[in-house]
Amino acid sequence: MKGIILAGGSGTRLSPLTRVTSKQLLPIYDQPMIYYPLKTLLDGGITDILIITAPDHAGDFLMFLGSGKDFGAKFTYEIQDEPGGLAQGLALAETFVGDDSCVMILGDNLYEHNFKKDFEDFASGARIFVKEVHDPERFGVVEMDERGHVLSIEEKPSKPKSNYAQTGVYVYDEHVFDLIRTLGASDRGELEITDLNNVYLEKGALTASTIEGKWIDAGTFESLFKATEWRREWVAQHTKKNKS
Ligand code: G1P
Repeated sequence: MKGIILAGGSGTRLSPLTRVTSKQLLPIYDQPMIYYPLKTLLDGGITDILIITAPDHAGDFLMFLGSGKDFGAKFTYEIQDEPGGLAQGLALAETFVGDDSCVMILGDNLYEHNFKKDFEDFASGARIFVKEVHDPERFGVVEMDERGHVLSIEEKPSKPKSNYAQTGVYVYDEHVFDLIRTLGASDRGELEITDLNNVYLEKGALTASTIEGKWIDAGTFESLFKATEWRREWVAQHTKKNKS
């Protein structure tokens, strides 16, 4: 399985912090944001990784991450010229992924969950990962029946049908790129990941798992601050443990 970190976009929700750098390079306490989704992939056993960035700060990502050697991995880079949506970003990975399956993680998503088993067990179709939240209208909202089967996914609905958010890790089989080609642009002119997942849902090929532990989409000032607090606590706890 190949890995993709999507670190494109213009980061307008975090302006002016994103005027001279990329959102995914902003600090979360002691590390740049992109280290966290990178670690999530590495901990999941994924080491062949494509990093997709916006053109503006692409060189900074390369400088930070390099070839992947320091991480025991291999990195490839691709530029998303315009912020055309998450599914449009994913489409840029077609040659890199080839006939393999792939996992895409959003460059601003921080997880405590370890995905190793989820990735190993994946066979076909698409798999999303959900988490119960108190502000579902900020996310793709997943409605499920009592057995955990997905009934619907709606992107940032004003009246959410559940409190389950679709988080920023998506696993797809080798058909994903053909399916992206069937998508039309949404009202905001983008190729939406939620539309792609709904195509799999209509084919009866989408499954969802709930994740363990904390999850933060650090794309707003408030969540960026929370992510920093969370990391600070984690570092303090682990330093204490090591000292005692
Ligand atoms: C994107 C997706 C949304 C998902 C979220 C997770 O939204 O469109 O479905 O719930 O990531 O972080 P964004 O945060 O890019 O607006």
